Amino acid sequence: MKGKVCVFGSFNLDIVTKMSRFPQPGESLVAHSSMMGPGGKGSNQATAALRAGARVHYIGKVGNDDFGQFARRHLEKTGFDAITLFTCKEKPTGNAMIYVAGDNAENMISVYPGANLTVTAAEVNRCQPTVAAADILLVQLENNLSAIQRMVDNARQAKTYVIVNPAPWQKVSDAFLRNVDLLTPNSTEAGQLTNTQVTDFASAQVAAQILHGKGVRQLIITLGIQGALLSTGERMLLVPVYPAQPIDSTGAGDSFNGALAARLAAGEPLEQAALFASAYASVCVERAGAANSMPRYDDAVIRMQRYPELAIS
Ligand code: RIB
Ligand code: NA
Repeated sequence: MKGKVCVFGSFNLDIVTKMSRFPQPGESLVAHSSMMGPGGKGSNQATAALRAGARVHYIGKVGNDDFGQFARRHLEKTGFDAITLFTCKEKPTGNAMIYVAGDNAENMISVYPGANLTVTAAEVNRCQPTVAAADILLVQLENNLSAIQRMVDNARQAKTYVIVNPAPWQKVSDAFLRNVDLLTPNSTEAGQLTNTQVTDFASAQVAAQILHGKGVRQLIITLGIQGALLSTGERMLLVPVYPAQPIDSTGAGDSFNGALAARLAAGEPLEQAALFASAYASVCVERAGAANSMPRYDDAVIRMQRYPELAIS
C-alpha cells in the first residue's frame, strides 16, 4: 500500500566538497571533488519518502533566481504526486556549503535559508487541502517557525499524523511539542530540547522521559553509529544500525526521516518502519550528495535481508 506523505520543508542548492580533513580557520585547502546539486532537508526528505514508496506532495519556497529555476526543474522531474513551490521576490533560494571529510565521511554544513524563511500564513493556509488529504505531514525546522507551527496546527485539525524532525535546531515551545505525534531529534537536538547532554542510549532515555513529560507522544532519537532510541512512553527500544561503507553522510538524517514517514504512511507499525529507515539510511551514506543519494525501496530491503539478525530490541 502506498500512503500519502505531505512534506513541507526547505529547498537548498548544495555545494558539496570532499577533502582529506576539515580546513582550519584562515586555511585554504584543496578539495578532492566538488559537486552542486539539490538539497535542503525538506526536499531531501520528500525525495526519500517518494523513493521509499510513498505518494508525496512537496511544499517549499525558493527565490526568484537561477537556483530557484533549477529547483523547479529538478522537483518537476523527481516524480512527486504534486509540488507546491512558492516564489519569494526579496530573498534568494536557500543554499548550503558542505564539507565532507574523515573516515566516517562526516560533514560540516553552513546553511543560508534565504527564501525558506519567508513562508507566509496565507501560503500555509492555501496548502490546507493538501495537508488534510495526507496520511502524514512531515516537517523540519529549516523554515520560519511561524509557518511550520501553522502547518502543524492545520494538520492537527485535519487529524493528519505529524512528524517533526527538529533540524536544524531552533527553539520551539512546549505548546508546539504537544501537537507533534512523532519527534525525531538527533542526539544534539535532543540535548538542546531538554537542556541535557545526550551521548548514548542511557542519556537518550533521560531526554526521552523529559520530552514525554512535555507532551511528545512518540519519539525516535537518532544516535549516529550507536543506532537510535525509539520510545512510545511505555517502552524504550534500541533501533540497530546497519553496517555501511560511508562515503558521504550528507542527507543521512533526511533519508531516515523520509523512509520512516513513507513506511508509517503505508500502515507499518512504528518499530518496523524504524528498522526499515535505519537500513535505508545505511545505503544513503554510501552515496554522494543529498537528494540524489536517496536509495530505492528495494535497496533497503536487500540490506535488511543481508543482516537478518538485526532487530529492534
Ligand atoms: O540534511 C542535509 C541538508 O542540510 C543539506 O542538503 C543542506 O541543504 C542542509 O539543509
Ligand atoms: Na549521502
